[in-house]
Amino acid sequence: MIKDQAKKKIEQLSKELEEHNYKYYVLAKPSISDYDFDMKLEELVKLEKEFPELLLSDSPSQRVGGMITKEFKAIKHEYAFLSLSNSYSKDDLKDFDERVRKGVAGQIEYVCELKYDGVAIGLKYENGKLVQAVTRGDGEQGDEITTNAKTIRAVPLRLSPPSKGGQGGFSFPDKFEIRGEVFMTRKTFDAINKEKAEAGDALLANPRNSTAGTLKMQDSAEVARRKLDCFMYMLYGKELPFKNHYESLKEAKKWGFKVPDYISKCKTLDDVFEFIDIWDKDRHKLPFDIDGVVIKVNSYEQQKVLGFTAKSPRWAIAYKFKTETASTILEEITYQVGRTGAITPVANLKPVKLGGTTVKRASLHNADIIEKLDVRVGDTVYVEKGGEIIPKIVGVDLKKRPSNAHKTKYISECPECGTELVRGEDEANHYCPNEWGCPPQIKGKMSHFTSRKAMNIDSLGEETIEMLYEKGFVKNIADIYELKKYKEELMNIERMGEKSVSNLLAGIEESKQVPFERVLYALGIRHVGETLAKKLARQLRDIDSIMDATEEQLTATNDVGGQVAKSLIDFFSEKKNIELVQRLKKYGLQFESQTTQLTQSTKLTGLTFVVSGVFTKFSRDDLKAAIEQNGGKVAGSVSGKTSYLLAGENMGPEKLKKAEKLGVKIIDENEFGEMIK
Ligand code: IVH
Repeated sequence: MIKDQAKKKIEQLSKELEEHNYKYYVLAKPSISDYDFDMKLEELVKLEKEFPELLLSDSPSQRVGGMITKEFKAIKHEYAFLSLSNSYSKDDLKDFDERVRKGVAGQIEYVCELKYDGVAIGLKYENGKLVQAVTRGDGEQGDEITTNAKTIRAVPLRLSPPSKGGQGGFSFPDKFEIRGEVFMTRKTFDAINKEKAEAGDALLANPRNSTAGTLKMQDSAEVARRKLDCFMYMLYGKELPFKNHYESLKEAKKWGFKVPDYISKCKTLDDVFEFIDIWDKDRHKLPFDIDGVVIKVNSYEQQKVLGFTAKSPRWAIAYKFKTETASTILEEITYQVGRTGAITPVANLKPVKLGGTTVKRASLHNADIIEKLDVRVGDTVYVEKGGEIIPKIVGVDLKKRPSNAHKTKYISECPECGTELVRGEDEANHYCPNEWGCPPQIKGKMSHFTSRKAMNIDSLGEETIEMLYEKGFVKNIADIYELKKYKEELMNIERMGEKSVSNLLAGIEESKQVPFERVLYALGIRHVGETLAKKLARQLRDIDSIMDATEEQLTATNDVGGQVAKSLIDFFSEKKNIELVQRLKKYGLQFESQTTQLTQSTKLTGLTFVVSGVFTKFSRDDLKAAIEQNGGKVAGSVSGKTSYLLAGENMGPEKLKKAEKLGVKIIDENEFGEMIK
């Protein structure tokens, strides 16, 4: 393709992608499939790679990330980044309403919005293009996080002008700033924590902290994977073409910003109370966290008259919901040891009712939190149920502190095996380093090894592991494969019987067929979760290559960051781990990837493939990469030029119909594997 053609194609694809992005992420009304969207995006990325001089800073390709921010630059805010004064009762709001009515003449109209519980962000636009994204910081200056903000799909990179394809109304000013809240839905948050738990990493505390952490990540590709979202709530500019706030938000939505519909104009304070009561009751039904309602005077004119205090506008106030809190006595702090040796302090409480359930235990997270709260056994503590499932201690009622309450001294030795604990420089948690001798770590590693997504030995659940360990049959995961030697002894154990022993042994035998990627995951290497194990297995192919890989070779593998590489190197530099792997190899476990190696060749030159559906052996990305590496082309939709439709399960019926109509050959992944063998 010549440069002129490429330029036109890039422009057309960028425009289409931004429109689809808006329909999907802002309006929640997609008009094309995810797959077709991905194909268009891929086409754009490819063209931009071919013609790097045509890559624009507001290209939709920037959303997949990949840029690294070494240091976040400090930027002075053009408009002070004020916060809101808080109120906690309807009486506080009555006072606010009185102050407002004293301050301005005439009718007052309020706009009620939700108070999104995330991280504030300011986005600057010039001539319809996003030019800079900055965090709130200290209110005067914040950090520039433009690269990371571009990965947030709800943040438009270029705006839709009303005259051209926009939806009418005001044109956006040449220069303006819009502010809003970046957040993470609870679903995304839970998924990240699930992955972390599987990889043996410390969990994130809540969606807000997780959002804050994500925005400050250096690798924007990782930010893109975290699927942040963003609601906008306020416009700033020299000459905004509006009379009031409500109008500005409705227009901003038309320009492409994500402005939620949970906004209401209220003429009276009673209307405001009604809005508050509805959302106080229904807030848990929302897919994201809110911590209150924001009430703003609608008219710009009246806002101007009311003005600001040093910290906040006089024309707006936040009403904070009461979090469900209870107070009770902290009876004991115990410490749990996880399978990776991470120590979690747990508060054991005098049972108390909270949000419909009885709470007996609450998380104390780590040593720093205990220190910060200065929480002591015997204290009356406040327990709160936030977005998280496990309640947490948020404070201490110092007035009720018994005179003999001792300052909490965090344990320095493992409560299970007595080994001295360690704490890494950047780690929040203490760890017990005795991984080969500390019972909960050994048992935890075995449970992980046999779990469904790992070796899937369901006849060897936690209780059986506990029993076999206590009776001395197993001391590590490799011992599991020696159990058949002790068939007689096992059958003599109470409640075991012949049937359950043969079930157990059959399950163990079957697990030898489990593919390499799951064996790798089952080893329980820190930071190596299910997805990463899959990637490592696919790319490095066998255990020896992974064991021998240098840090550079590992980090050259997709998605393997420095932390993971270090963890792999540490794991395999331990002699005992190598011995373990050698033993498992000897028992016949899979330590080599069985999937066909997707090699490079020119076998597919001149052929065009459409890939659709879900595959079992390879991922869709692998297949597409293989087509290209072997000289073929990948297209998004079936046409007369399509040579093969590479079909997986659940593929779109339209594609299938079209392929059949045009006589395009339909193949599955096995047939494809044969083609490039
Ligand atoms: S308006 C000048 N509206 O609450 C006032 N803020 O202290 C600008 N927040 O961290 C704020 N939802 O990020 C406004 N609908 C909303 C909001 C909202 C959440 C956050 C804001 C800031 C804090 C206010």
